[in-house]
Formats: sequence, structure tokens, C-alpha cells
Amino acid sequence: MSTPRARILGLGTFVPARTVTNHDLAEVMETSHDWIVERSGIEERHWVDAEEGNYTMGVKAARAALADAGVDASEIDCIVYATLSPDYFFPGCGVLVQRELGIGHVPAFDIRQQCSGFIYGLQMADVFIRAGQYRKILVIGGEVHSRGLDKTTRGRTVSVLFGDAAGAAVVGVSDDPEAGILITRVHSDGSDAECLAMQYPGMAAGRDSYVTHDDVESGRIFPNMEGQKVFKNAVKRMPEVIQEVLDAQGLTVADIDMLIPHQANLRINEMVAKQIGIDASRVHNNIQKYGNTTAATIPLCLSEARAEGKVKKGDLVCLVAFGSGFTWGSVLMRW
Ligand code: UT7
Repeated sequence: MSTPRARILGLGTFVPARTVTNHDLAEVMETSHDWIVERSGIEERHWVDAEEGNYTMGVKAARAALADAGVDASEIDCIVYATLSPDYFFPGCGVLVQRELGIGHVPAFDIRQQCSGFIYGLQMADVFIRAGQYRKILVIGGEVHSRGLDKTTRGRTVSVLFGDAAGAAVVGVSDDPEAGILITRVHSDGSDAECLAMQYPGMAAGRDSYVTHDDVESGRIFPNMEGQKVFKNAVKRMPEVIQEVLDAQGLTVADIDMLIPHQANLRINEMVAKQIGIDASRVHNNIQKYGNTTAATIPLCLSEARAEGKVKKGDLVCLVAFGSGFTWGSVLMRW
């Protein structure tokens, strides 16, 4: 029996209704619409209202993906939930989705690869399916950044960049021998683990307690980022891993019909496109409307590109991401 190929059978997304513009941010911190657009391309983002949380958005995205795939929740035999902003320290969001969707007692993984989380999740799904372990897997990427940002001038370098959203894919055995995931490659390098991180609350050595009043008052509980270091690594690692997946398949950049990059910064994606020599018409970006939604950017961007007719049957689609860890990776698939 030949090895089954995995394919994205359906996609779904959920974006909270509340839009936060750059002008809204300029009312609470020293920043400006022009600075944010010039440095990142972001014009607005969406932040949750009180009634929404991470897994509630993940469930909505998952339901949309199931409907898109024509798959019933009862057919799902594994859940992979990528997030850096879970509802609870533990348990993870995966079991909350399992409960909410009334899926059977299937395995539910939460994975922690930040901006590369969805790519890592797709690799897991691909390998599980090709090994014959599971047949229909929900891969979800969801983030609630807005509750964990320092919305004052002190935190402006980070807080203007991030938005809330969730995206999901149903990954299953492909019934079309031509269509599906061709190859996945993921990497990590922990040398700069703390240069884009949220280290508090936490259980690290030397702490008396996982959170203290001083952690809160000093602002240590907010994410920290060495922006330029992250930028430089992103524009190096993303072209590298795109080339790696292409080489492994004997393909070239000219063969890519649509590149879906992680949405951290429009300038990063423009530099990556320039470096690999792909025309802007074959790259889809939507950071302008959503900001960086971390594990949700790839499904949000892919499903929008498909809705706009930019991803069609038979197209070669390349997904690529880079983020905290550092972690990075790419997926090449025939749509
Ligand atoms: O998914 C992976 C996650 N993150 C990334 O990929 C982010 C990668 N890095 C970046 O995208 C960019 O480094 C940023 C957009 C974060 C920052 O852009 P930059 O061109 O590297 O700016 P900078 O940090 O060097 O700051 C330039 C100036 C500074 O002022 P001085 O020292 O020149 O007077 C900052 O204090 O801009 C100031 N600044 C701001 N001004 C207005 C920093 N944040 C803001 C802000 N509004 N929000």
C-alpha cells in the first residue's frame, strides 16, 4: 500500500469584531499612524471584547474549517493547537476545543512555536497522516495578544504590532494523488531565545514565586523584543528555508504560484520576496488589516488568498514563517 498524502481539506478563520486603528493607539501611547505604517505596514488590527477568549475563537475557526471541508466534528481523530497566549497556564487549548466540539477522546496537543506554530502543526499533521496514525486532524492557530500587551508608551515597540485572531485547517488524507503537502521543513535555534519572549510569569530558576507584585509593577510581565535582531534573523531564515523545501523537491522559485509568508512586518516580507526574486503579485500579505496574529497569520492569509482566487487547484503554494524561539519553517503544497 502506498503512503497516503496529506492535504488541507478545509480552512476556517475567526477575527473578533472590534477594530483598533493606529489612531486609536495614538490616543493611549506616544505613537503615530505614519510611524506604524512606515515601519510595519500595519493600519489596523482586531482585539477581543470581554466575551471572547483564545479557545472560543479557535472553536469558531475550527467549525468554519469543518464546514469548508464537509467534515463532521466526529470524524476528527486528532487536534493540534498552536498558541503562545493560551486561556490557561494548563491545561492547553486543545482539550477545550475537544470538549466544546464534542469530539471523542482523541489526542489534543498544544504546541509552543509562536509565529511558526501553524507550520510546525502542519508538519505534525502531515507526518501523522502519512504514517497512517490519524486520518483527519484539526490544526488550529489562535492568539489573544491584546490582554497581554503593555498599552502605554513603555510598551509601544511591541504593542502596536499584534492582533487577535484564530485560523484552522482540517488536514486529511488526500483523495487526489496530485494534490497535497509535498514537503515540510522546520528548524529552531535557541541561542536568542530571550530576545523575543514573555518570561514572566514563569517557573525559571532563581524565582521565589511564579509571579510577584514587582513583576507586575515593573512591567516585566509584558513581552520583550529586540526588534532589529528579530528582523535580521527573519530576513535570513525565511529565504533559506524556502530554498530548502524547493531544492528537496527539485523545484525553483519560478514554480511557486503563491507565497504565503507569516505576517510580522510588511517590510520583512518585501525583503524576503526581493531576496528570492518573486514578484509581489505572487505573494499574499494582509498584515495591513490584522497586524501580527502569530500562530493565526498563516491560515488567515492562506484562506484570504484562496477567497480572492489567488490560490487555485493545481497551484504550488509555499508557506513560510519565522518567530520567537527562534523557530522557523516552510511547507510546500500542491493545492
Ligand atoms: O513574528 C516575529 C515577531 N516580530 C518581528 O518580526 C518584529 C521584527 N522587528 C520589527 O518589525 C521592527 O524592528 C520594529 C517594527 C519592531 C521596529 O522598527 P525599527 O525600524 O527596528 O525601529 P526601532 O526599534 O529601531 O525604533 C526606532 C525609533 C526609536 O526611537 P529613537 O531611539 O530612534 O529615538 C523607538 O523608540 O522608533 C521609536 N519607536 C516608536 N515610535 C513611535 C519604537 N516604537 C515606536 C512606536 N511609535 N510604536
